[in-house]
Amino acid sequence: MLETVKYLIGSPGASGYGSKSTAEEVTENYCHLRSFTAIITGATSGIGAETARVLAKRGARLVLPARSPKAAEEAKARIVSEFPDSQIIVMALDLSSLSSVRKFVAEFESLDMPLNLLINNAGKFTHEHAISEDGIEMTFATNYLGHFLLTKLLLSKMIETANKTGVQGRIVNVSSSIHGWFSGDMIRYLIQISRNKSYYDATRAYALSKLANVLHTKEVAQRLEKIGANVTVNCVHPGIVRTRLTREREGMITDLVFFLASKLLKKIPQAAATTCYVATHPRLVNVSGKYFADCNETWASKQGSNSTEGARLWAASEFMVSRDAKAACDWDTYDKY
Ligand SMILES: NC(=O)c1ccc[n+]([C@@H]2O[C@H](COP(=O)([O-])OP(=O)(O)OC[C@H]3O[C@@H](n4cnc5c(N)ncnc54)[C@H](OP(=O)(O)O)[C@@H]3O)[C@@H](O)[C@H]2O)c1
Repeated sequence: MLETVKYLIGSPGASGYGSKSTAEEVTENYCHLRSFTAIITGATSGIGAETARVLAKRGARLVLPARSPKAAEEAKARIVSEFPDSQIIVMALDLSSLSSVRKFVAEFESLDMPLNLLINNAGKFTHEHAISEDGIEMTFATNYLGHFLLTKLLLSKMIETANKTGVQGRIVNVSSSIHGWFSGDMIRYLIQISRNKSYYDATRAYALSKLANVLHTKEVAQRLEKIGANVTVNCVHPGIVRTRLTREREGMITDLVFFLASKLLKKIPQAAATTCYVATHPRLVNVSGKYFADCNETWASKQGSNSTEGARLWAASEFMVSRDAKAACDWDTYDKY
């Protein structure tokens, strides 16, 4: 109850920021990103677009990978019209395709640029059941598995940049408090929905993908610490905000639901605040493997804090991305389950 009141009035937490803080506010006093290069996925709309706008305002050079070149060019043009000195590179990436992720990373590496920040923000929620070209349920493939491979392939570049510059690299995974709605066996459910439409429940599949984002964060943090890498990784719940995430359900009923819930909703500049805070604030140097909401550290769900689940998900993810580029994932050959 007290937490809800604090949320509604935007009362600041230990960080000095709260639910009503905006991305501009949390970056304004501390943040000079002139020498930083950031990759932000899903920057064509919503939270990612605002994150990109504010990091560009603070001087970061941006790489915006997107599945629609037109949408990405439009996003770039919007930022450049506001901040004409911005350096923004648009590249092709469909996160639901492992081969597209590999191609993007190869193209990014060919540019020979440093990489300080990786913001894994792109996401989808869909009532339509679909399977990716790699044989994985589409929400999971997009929200989690593509980012798993992207992070894995970009880590050495981030570690190298941090070593060369002495500036800590940061990865931010955009999850959701909905991760706590998933209960049950993650891998079993993933296999079920990757094989059979009848098991598909859009909200459960979305919650599974967001739980995977949380577990991935904690697992990567442990691995980075073990190898002494000067790169941190944290995850965030941005808050609930009306974006194109609900694009399939646009109409009067959705308008009404959003109107009735309007007091609980954030505006997009507020929803991008936690990502920008975690990506840039000096207070978070050496903070890794944590979960943030409203610009403050908070607790992930019990399942999201379970390192055994994290290790299990990691093994399954390695299995999924290790498939031959043309062969869809064959779970019959997965012996660790
Ligand atoms: N909105 C909320 O209330 C809320 C709450 C909690 C968490 N989140 C999370 O916040 C993140 C941003 O969502 P949003 O609300 O800003 O939604 P949004 O406006 O729909 O933005 C989603 C972004 O992801 C991109 N994307 C989707 N599928 C992709 C793919 N296969 N490959 C590459 N990019 C892809 C979209 O690009 P296109 O232009 O190509 O579609 C778009 O840029 C998501 O991870 C979401 O789960 C949102």
